Amino acid sequence: MKFVSVLFLTLSFSIVALATQPSIYGENGVVVAHDLEACEAGIEILKNGGNAVDAAVAVSYALAVTLPQAGNIGGGGFMIIHMADGQKFAIDYREMAPGKAHRDMFLDDSGKVVSQLSTRGGLAVGVPGTVAGLQLALDNYGSMTRKKVMKPAIKLAQKGFTIPFDLAYSFGWLNKAAEGFDETRRIFCRDGDIYKPGETFKQPDLAGTLKRIQKKGNAGFYEGPVAEALVKSISAKGGSITLEDLKNYTARVREPVVGTYRGLEVLSMPPPSSGGIALISMLNMMEPMIFDSVGWHSAQHIQMLAEVEKRAYADRSVWLGDSDFFEVPQEKLLSKAYAALRMVDYDSLSATPSDSIYPLNDRELAGIELGGHESEETTHFSVVDKWGNAVSVTTTLNWSFGSYVTVEGYGFLLNNEMDDFSSKPGAPNSFGLLGNEANAIAPKKRMLSSMTPTILARDGKVVLVVGAPGGSTIITTVLQVINNMVDFGMPVHDAVNVPRFHHQWRPDVIHYGPGAISPETMEVLRGMGYELTPRYGYGEVNAIARDKIFGGWIGAPDLKTASHGAAY
Ligand code: DON
Repeated sequence: MKFVSVLFLTLSFSIVALATQPSIYGENGVVVAHDLEACEAGIEILKNGGNAVDAAVAVSYALAVTLPQAGNIGGGGFMIIHMADGQKFAIDYREMAPGKAHRDMFLDDSGKVVSQLSTRGGLAVGVPGTVAGLQLALDNYGSMTRKKVMKPAIKLAQKGFTIPFDLAYSFGWLNKAAEGFDETRRIFCRDGDIYKPGETFKQPDLAGTLKRIQKKGNAGFYEGPVAEALVKSISAKGGSITLEDLKNYTARVREPVVGTYRGLEVLSMPPPSSGGIALISMLNMMEPMIFDSVGWHSAQHIQMLAEVEKRAYADRSVWLGDSDFFEVPQEKLLSKAYAALRMVDYDSLSATPSDSIYPLNDRELAGIELGGHESEETTHFSVVDKWGNAVSVTTTLNWSFGSYVTVEGYGFLLNNEMDDFSSKPGAPNSFGLLGNEANAIAPKKRMLSSMTPTILARDGKVVLVVGAPGGSTIITTVLQVINNMVDFGMPVHDAVNVPRFHHQWRPDVIHYGPGAISPETMEVLRGMGYELTPRYGYGEVNAIARDKIFGGWIGAPDLKTASHGAAY
């Protein structure tokens, strides 16, 4: 491995001096999530004696009301739990392919991927997992009743909440995008008379659905009138989910993937997410690197991360998929020895072309462009309680407002998560991500995800709860927050709020957010063989870190978007 010190590359350039002050501090509990109402729902539960899992369930249901782009009951997600006594769990409530799904379902007769079939309408919908996942978390690790934890969400749906600018804007956008989806336009766009910021948004249909779930649990969603309406609405839009698919949905408790980085324990999501394995494998590749004399976002720093990212995303494209269906070589991918091997061709003076970083058996995958993604939305939130339990949750409908199919009369949107499968080997999904056999479509299989809810601990005690939305950029976003804090000593609020960059192997390009790389550094990088492209809308990180001075918790919402935190 060539870790040559190249001084001329350490042209450090600090464009950003954000230094957002930590104003969210609590010793008893902290919630950081997109909406203030959702944070308050979590804090209410904590103040009433609930633990972080109870609060996380309350926050999830609240986001299903206040953030219809991503918060959901018609989608899925992942939850990482670190209990104060050291027990660790990963809850998988990823959507599943319906029983009638098959490998070539998004291809035409000539074998070409049919545009929008996997992203819009009934066939795009995976069997939703959120209600089952939240129930599993509550039953196993919570302490409160469903009745109590769902109360804040039901109140928000019934009484309404004030529409913030970003939601009104999204509704305006949806009004055009969801043409032909009448129920969606009726509920979220008032049939074209779009809501303005500051108006109150009430959702009586959704309140009714939530009350059913509150009363009957899984049976209130996966069976009975909600399930019947769900099947009918999907079928009206060309989909094939059946009542049996719904009844058979199961959320799973899995073992989190665990790694170490400079003495910290890193806990993250196993398959069907690629997030945890890719994150830990990148951290393993970074561990021998010395960042002390490296300028933050200098060409040298950007190169170090970009090279590590390329290798991990190349491996992702071949080796990662639902481990219930495909033998994921998890132990190997997580080992420090494999990481060292992966970096033998690393050259600190020049870019290793993506063409030469093929994962094994994957030489045909060449020249593939990043797919367009005009809108995307997922949401991450973090929770800690007074006992030291911590919960990290990322949940999504995939794209903003998912498939645009709203269940008629029940007020909730369905995901378009089927697009996260690999429709065809070598055909990129909407995030430009490539897949292969490991992520091919099969009945009841879970599509590969990039969601990376993560918790870091030192000596068994949680020090950071972190995660983000952002499709393929999720994993590199979480990586950069950890790198900023651990290797550059940034406080959490800076680590979250400074701009970011991203490489995902294909296309062979470094994407960068506004202000992330100076023009001078770009020149140095181009000289080393890198191509650079601007990218807007890096995921909203919502993190919580242990405060070293007073011993409480600091909430760090991403201020680049309109995120929030609450503490007590
Ligand atoms: O599971 C995944 O990786 C994607 N469905 C996440 C989508 C996403 O993050 C979109 N938004 N920001």
